Amino acid sequence: MKIISVVGARPNFMKVAPIHAAIKKLNLPVHHLICHTGQHYDKKMSKIFFNDLNIPEPDFYLGVGSGSHAEQTAKIMIGFEKILIEEKPDLVIVVGDVNSTIACSLTAVKLGIKVAHVEAGLRSFDRSMPEEINRILTDAISDYLFVSEKSGLNNLRNEGIPPEKIFFVGNVMIDSLINFLNNANESSILSYYNLMPGEYCLLTLHRPSNVDNKDKLSEILDLILEVSKKKKIFFPVHPRTKKNMEKFGLLGPLNNDVIITDPIGYIDFIALVKNSGLVITDSGGIQEETTFLGIPCVTLRNSTERPITVEIGTNYLVGENIQSARKYIDEIISGKNKKGSIPELWDGKAAERIVNILVGRGY
Ligand code: UD1
Repeated sequence: MKIISVVGARPNFMKVAPIHAAIKKLNLPVHHLICHTGQHYDKKMSKIFFNDLNIPEPDFYLGVGSGSHAEQTAKIMIGFEKILIEEKPDLVIVVGDVNSTIACSLTAVKLGIKVAHVEAGLRSFDRSMPEEINRILTDAISDYLFVSEKSGLNNLRNEGIPPEKIFFVGNVMIDSLINFLNNANESSILSYYNLMPGEYCLLTLHRPSNVDNKDKLSEILDLILEVSKKKKIFFPVHPRTKKNMEKFGLLGPLNNDVIITDPIGYIDFIALVKNSGLVITDSGGIQEETTFLGIPCVTLRNSTERPITVEIGTNYLVGENIQSARKYIDEIISGKNKKGSIPELWDGKAAERIVNILVGRGY
């Protein structure tokens, strides 16, 4: 069986790594190839993850780079179609909800090649998010839908996806987290930046709705300055956010209690999450990683496609209201935070379940 897995943007790498490892570990009769679309291309957004996660060099690199949604999606489709025609794989695996995910799944189904979507069924019900469109469309055309939390089962049923295509397998991103936690324990990033476990807040921001508008971004950074008086802030800055902070003149006002760095590799980032007192983010995946690690997480978004992290995990969805964010952050800093538990099947074995199903061995 020949399978091509697609990676494109930063949150894809930690999802494909355990799938590749599971195929090797179970010694399956699968020729597994990896295609990197090049949606993310900076060393610190891409290459470092291949090293940290032991992913082999990609077999194909499309090098599409940045661009408008149409441009990026179209370039990926044109490049990927050539590879599919040449390689004739039996199956394409796509993960997550980025532009590479929809571009490659659409290209494959149009050539009659089966598609497996890992992390299917998640819905924010906010169609202004590009990811939501990517999720709905990818799920509608996939042949195997691998679901990470139970809300996904309901969402797919409600959209009329035939039940025999849907498999509740757990969370591959948590597979990576479990696989690399020991490496993270050896990271020297805390001592390098003089951070004490539990005594700092980790911040990440990259959603267009938070960082593309000057007033919004400046409101969030004002809040961060306020929080920095109580807890040191560690802020690895996404390229989109950095560009906007420069453009809007918002880099200057931050002070010495806000440590600003380039994007951080996987192992060091996990060490930073695990040892933080609080995470403030607008990321999807970090809501899951904090829930697994039991770290309080304040999510600066109106909706989440990962509701289990709020229902039973340590995540607080505070919306775009800065007052509400301030209230939760103060509570957490004064020790009044929910403890949370780990969602079903987030046990480090999701990738093994997936590949067993794909080769016909069942669960
Ligand atoms: C993409 C995904 C988003 C995911 C995020 C993780 C889509 C629609 N969005 O958003 O779901 O949460 O990745 O990071 O697929 N840039 C660089 N170097 C890079 C990559 C990007 O400088 O290696 C800059 C470019 O200026 C680019 C901008 O960041 O225009 C945005 O990159 P893009 O891939 O379009 O979207 P993200 O915001 O990263």
